[in-house]
Amino acid sequence: MAKYAAITGWGSAVPDKVLTNSDLTKLVDTSDEWITSRTGIRERRVVSDGESTATLAVTASRQALERAGVSPWQVDLVICCTATPDYLFPATACLVQHEIGAENAGAFDLEAACAGFIYGLSVGSQFISTGAYKTVLVVAAEALSRFIDWQDRATCVLFGDGAGAVVLQPTDSPRGLLSFVLGSHGVGGDLIKLPAGGAAEPATYETVEKREHFIKMNGQEVYRFAVRIMGDSAVEALHKAGLEYEDISLFIPHQANLRIINSIADRLHLDHSKVFIDIDKYGNTSAASIPIALCEAVERGRVKPGDNLLFVAFGAGLTSAASVVKWGTDGDRGR
Ligand code: ACO
Repeated sequence: MAKYAAITGWGSAVPDKVLTNSDLTKLVDTSDEWITSRTGIRERRVVSDGESTATLAVTASRQALERAGVSPWQVDLVICCTATPDYLFPATACLVQHEIGAENAGAFDLEAACAGFIYGLSVGSQFISTGAYKTVLVVAAEALSRFIDWQDRATCVLFGDGAGAVVLQPTDSPRGLLSFVLGSHGVGGDLIKLPAGGAAEPATYETVEKREHFIKMNGQEVYRFAVRIMGDSAVEALHKAGLEYEDISLFIPHQANLRIINSIADRLHLDHSKVFIDIDKYGNTSAASIPIALCEAVERGRVKPGDNLLFVAFGAGLTSAASVVKWGTDGDRGR
């Protein structure tokens, strides 16, 4: 029985519409200098009419399947990692499954906010390594712009929309997920929250008037949590994989804030040339940020077969996650 789940396909999608820091100065009292120096973000992509989490997920998924050389009907399972689903139900994963024609697949959503992709990768890999399934599609997609309060300068400058997907398939050699660490810190649940619209606080005229259907965040507390937990999780994932800092070829962290990324890289004694950054172009795309960055890293020739990649993320929940992935497939099938 195959023990490992290799990544055999990958794909990403972002909306065409670009929102620059300068565009945001027309909406709220902010400046390009403030946003760039505090976060590293210069622009982000946002969905237009007719686009949604599902449409971005479908584009990224089709790309990933094509790269893997897999037909939609071969997919056994679709896991959609998202905190911004098209609907509370049906699951966005079911919309994606239908649209891509994955007629033989099960499908479910996984909500772990910005840590969602690593959670999804870990869950999907279990189905492969137990032998239960042969092809699992993990897609992380977000349309955060639909849940942003465009009057709140503390949050509206941070987020962007996008999707990234990977195909997991079995291999006998140690490829794909070598280790994972998943954490939950529910004590900090109020630090990033979308207060209304769920069962605890159903939608009323009052919740709309109080703007409670938008993301609320205590930025400073989240920042402190992120620096501590991402460092700890990354160290644990490395340890579980039996690797040292120098064995990591590329560090692909959740792209939430450049200052957070740099301080974790320092803690891990990683040369900054080994840190992948694209937050300047996309902002924080939550669960989608790591797979989008992974696709860009591959496109830019920053990832080679046999490379050890370190992923780490944190998000609303609060959640945390880290994993080590060995890139390539069994015999690398020419990739
Ligand atoms: N433009 C100009 N000024 C601003 C802006 C803005 N966009 N936003 C806040 N400020 C002001 C504040 O009002 C404050 O002013 P004051 O001193 O007069 O009160 C000042 O800037 C400093 O505000 P801070 O919140 O202390 O700024 P900080 O340096 O902490 O940076 C930031 C804020 C960027 C949000 C940072 O705290 C951060 O990145 N936190 C982590 C957030 C994060 O990563 N969240 C991801 C959640 S992911 C998920 O799961 C959905």
